[in-house]
Amino acid sequence: MIALGIETSCDETSAAVVRDGREILSNVILSQAAHTRFGGVIPEVASREHVRAIVPIYGQALEEAGVELSDVKLVAATMGPGLVGPLLVGLSFAKGLAWARKIPFVPVNHLEGHLAANILEHPDLDRHHLTLIVSGGHTMLVEVRAFGDYTLLGQTRDDAAGEAFDKVAKLMGLGYPGGAALDRLAAGGDPRFVRFPRAVMKDDYAFSYSGLKTAVAIYLERLDRSELEIHCADIAASFQEAVVDVLVAKTIKAAEAMQISHVTLSGGVAANSRRRARMSEEVAARGGRLFYPSPVLCTDNAAMIAAAGQYSFDRYGPGELVANAIPYLRLA
Ligand code: KG4
Ligand code: ZN
Repeated sequence: MIALGIETSCDETSAAVVRDGREILSNVILSQAAHTRFGGVIPEVASREHVRAIVPIYGQALEEAGVELSDVKLVAATMGPGLVGPLLVGLSFAKGLAWARKIPFVPVNHLEGHLAANILEHPDLDRHHLTLIVSGGHTMLVEVRAFGDYTLLGQTRDDAAGEAFDKVAKLMGLGYPGGAALDRLAAGGDPRFVRFPRAVMKDDYAFSYSGLKTAVAIYLERLDRSELEIHCADIAASFQEAVVDVLVAKTIKAAEAMQISHVTLSGGVAANSRRRARMSEEVAARGGRLFYPSPVLCTDNAAMIAAAGQYSFDRYGPGELVANAIPYLRLA
């Protein structure tokens, strides 16, 4: 079955064609450049950019996949969480297409999309696994028993880890969004240069990143320019280590407590090289296996939405055309 996926929850306009929830025939992603000069996403600007881009990106996705619209048997689009204006653009487009073609429409939870990126790429992943979703908007540890059957073990109480990466990157003059640039800079630094705080929470699986972000901001404020220039890689590595330490410790604790051997990373911060390396070591040391998507499937993309739409359709059938955008949609 050929599924078309549409993703417009934030500042990426993406359309993808996926066969049988496994084979990516195309995955076209346009990252909006309009926000760079503002240092953050402006929702209204994002909505307008999606309106301009959605039709050409959809056309390109069909063309690159080598399929006609008549070959598409399912349309899936992100319904939330995300920015309401941007969500409405992709959702309305997808619903219109499904209605006009009289084919099933499936609204998709964006977080379920991130989680599906691993199922899409790793046929040998156990359906029962533990996933850590870490993106610009979310940091959550989830037990997955099957697609659609989850328990949220814990999440961030304040900032998402990706948000902390972006804010620290901005303070260090690495541009926006700077998570990937910070990752590259940190590769050449000493992670023990500064001991930034690790949030200790009463709740085992809760996270907090606002204190760390403030600690780095104060540290940078007190530093003179020349010192920052000499030690920028060390500071980036030290910040990254503080983030990764907590993510690794809590995930391992949950995997051990629940005796789950397959662990996945998903969301934009799954692309982080330090985190992949540290988590791989720790999971393997306990006889488990770590899975993560290839970099293009870590950050927002429509292939993961098409795959999630397919899995949802296989299990629950088609969704309703009355589905609306839900900015604070939770993972059920
Ligand atoms: O999943 P995503 O594309 O968007 C949301 O759903 O939020 O995640 C984007 C986030 C941004 O905060 C970005 O800076 C971060 O992922 N990111 C990284 C890396 N690549 C992307 N953070 C750390 N290391 C990376 N290599
Ligand atoms: Zn995302």
